[in-house]
Amino acid sequence: MNNPIRGPLNAATLRAVDNYTHRLVGVRKQRLFADLPRQVVEIGPGTGANLRYYRPGTWLVAIEPNVHMHRRLRAAARRRGIDLELRTETAERIWLPDASVDVVVSTLVLCTVPDPDAAVREIRRVLRPGGRLLFLEHVRADGGSGRVQRLAARPWHWLFEGCDVRRDTERTLRDAGFASVDLERYQLRSAFLPINPQIAGTAVR
Ligand SMILES: C[S@@+](CC[C@H](N)C(=O)[O-])C[C@H]1O[C@@H](n2cnc3c(N)ncnc32)[C@H](O)[C@@H]1O
Repeated sequence: MNNPIRGPLNAATLRAVDNYTHRLVGVRKQRLFADLPRQVVEIGPGTGANLRYYRPGTWLVAIEPNVHMHRRLRAAARRRGIDLELRTETAERIWLPDASVDVVVSTLVLCTVPDPDAAVREIRRVLRPGGRLLFLEHVRADGGSGRVQRLAARPWHWLFEGCDVRRDTERTLRDAGFASVDLERYQLRSAFLPINPQIAGTAVR
């Protein structure tokens, strides 16, 4: 995190794959983000891959501790007419009061935060009863795809500053005490094999 070489490299890579990711998961994200309130809290927004799905005028509380993401994130917010409140705390310790938020977004972040259990606990804490965590994450695979993940794990972890392709994020979410967790599991048609399979859905406090 905030590594002077990998930070800028990671930010440039995320920005470079922005349109590609949109082609892969754009329809799914449009469905997931169909009904957002004006204020959205997003953990680890990176360079702003999700901003194209938010309505102009959205108040985005962006919890992004990696400063190398900030310039591109600010530029994306300006381009999309998003009212950006950029903060550098981590998802494991969110500086928001209990039960104060209606929607938290996390896409491809619970793979990277150092302590995913703590991050999900914090997300649940800041959500109001009935509030929603909207997530899209890559998760641990079995069989042949699991072997591919094991081979890719170390370089992937280096390049993407801590991304662990072997996490059982579905289990983390289901064990976190949400009132409900609804998700779909799917395979991307992508050359980026280690980030398959994925889960996307909603956890309601
Ligand atoms: C793979 S990128 C995903 C970026 C973006 N959400 C997307 O879908 O393209 C992971 C992001 O999580 C951020 N991150 C890493 N550790 C974090 C933490 N402890 N709290 C919040 N964000 C974190 C990284 O800086 C990075 O922006």
